Amino acid sequence: MPSPSQVVIFGASGDLALRKLLPALASLASKHQPAEGFSVVGVSRREKSDEAFRAEVAEAMPAELKAAWTELAPRVHYVAGDVGNVQDLDRLSARLDALPGGRATGRLFYLSLKPDLFANAISNLASKGLVRVAEGEKDAWRRVVVEKPFGHDLASAQALNRHVHTHLKEYQVYRIDHYLGKETVQNILGFRFHNAIFEPLWNRDHVELVQITVAEELGMERGRAAYYDGTGALRDMLQNHMLQVLSLVAMEPPASLDAKAVRAQKVAVLEALRPPMPSEMKRNCVRARYSKGTVRDLPVPGYLDEEGVPADSQTETYVAVRCEIDTWRWSGVPILLRHGKRLKKRFTEVQVQFKTPPLQLFNKPDGISDDEFRQKLRAGDLCQIRPNVLTLSIQPREAIRLSFGVKRPGASMVMHGAEMAFDYQDVFGASTAPAYERLLLDALLGDATLFLRGDEIEASWRFADAMQAAWKGADAPPLLEYPAGTWGPEEAGDLFHGCEGGWTRG
Ligand code: BG6
Repeated sequence: MPSPSQVVIFGASGDLALRKLLPALASLASKHQPAEGFSVVGVSRREKSDEAFRAEVAEAMPAELKAAWTELAPRVHYVAGDVGNVQDLDRLSARLDALPGGRATGRLFYLSLKPDLFANAISNLASKGLVRVAEGEKDAWRRVVVEKPFGHDLASAQALNRHVHTHLKEYQVYRIDHYLGKETVQNILGFRFHNAIFEPLWNRDHVELVQITVAEELGMERGRAAYYDGTGALRDMLQNHMLQVLSLVAMEPPASLDAKAVRAQKVAVLEALRPPMPSEMKRNCVRARYSKGTVRDLPVPGYLDEEGVPADSQTETYVAVRCEIDTWRWSGVPILLRHGKRLKKRFTEVQVQFKTPPLQLFNKPDGISDDEFRQKLRAGDLCQIRPNVLTLSIQPREAIRLSFGVKRPGASMVMHGAEMAFDYQDVFGASTAPAYERLLLDALLGDATLFLRGDEIEASWRFADAMQAAWKGADAPPLLEYPAGTWGPEEAGDLFHGCEGGWTRG
């Protein structure tokens, strides 16, 4: 853990703070001896004592972190306050100054708040001098972590960026996307740029298609619909988490691993990402919402029957799109992205499908001649076997698989699908650290590599906005329905053309 620091969580009684942030801090503190002056201050509106807050957190703490929490608890404090109220911030400021290290420490302000409060929170923190370091406080620093969603479209993200930049330097801002905290997402960088054998193949000459799926079993639990309706699958998941994964899959090699080098390459991908043209949208995009069905043997309601969803809702819970990246490396390679709630199985996976060999020599069906075989392949009546697919399984299984063909023993030349596989669990044992733990540590250490730069967010919104605008146009894809617990609308299969294959099943 870095030099003495204070972590201030706004929205400390909220779901994210109790379920993710405070457990992550407890776990971090147990692994990295925190310095003497390390403290955590929870802020939320209701009056309560430090003890009452600690008891609330203790109750939410997962069993395996109870001991770590008991260690951390004495360093955890509570201040009742509303970030929109400057008097409350005075009280917070006085409390922080009185804690060990006072103003001379580093301070991390975590805005775990409703997005419409971000702007006000930042200007109020600034107006009270809380994000400025006074001269002479050499070791002090001030950083602000901003939760997602950062804006709800391009214009609002740009406005928020402008607002942020009037009060903070870009290096003080940590825009979070928790997918970047996932070990397997970071490994995309490691896998691509450490292993020299894959990179020469990682381009339009050898890659036929890239597909990414984030499938969820979850629906609108814990009153989630209030946020979700009007947001939808495109803005809730595809615009942020999925485009982040895609940018790591498609970026050029960075010159180093520092934040500037990595983020510049990611932005370049996002800026070159092209949604389908409005006139092509219907053919290249599928949107849908779940109807009632069964997930893990339990009956679940349809989206329209979820609490808080208006009867005339047009919000999609499923989106699949075929798009392209207009760069020399990727031009012409279809990029297929799919995300849905209430699907059959929870998994996140990237698949890079490599091209088939120029000529298929093997596995000719019985009863046809070589010439007929060739003709059928050429006409697309038969599809060539695609032996080489690289699968990066992000979650819940954390694995990498590379498929290839081997000769089946016997007199004829029949090729059989085989696989080389690596599984994190088998090699490294127990599960990897939760995403928020890594991201909080990085923010405390001042490493912004795994956080989003302002222009990165804007590029992602530009893509999402273009899709959203086309959804209002003449060639808008209709809002289809799929029963909960299935693979989503069958129409999504049509986004694969000819012999390109289909969606992965995790
Ligand atoms: C959040 C979305 O950002 O990510 C949720 O708002 C979604 O709708 C969640 O369920 C998925 O995160 P994970 O880590 O469980 O894949």
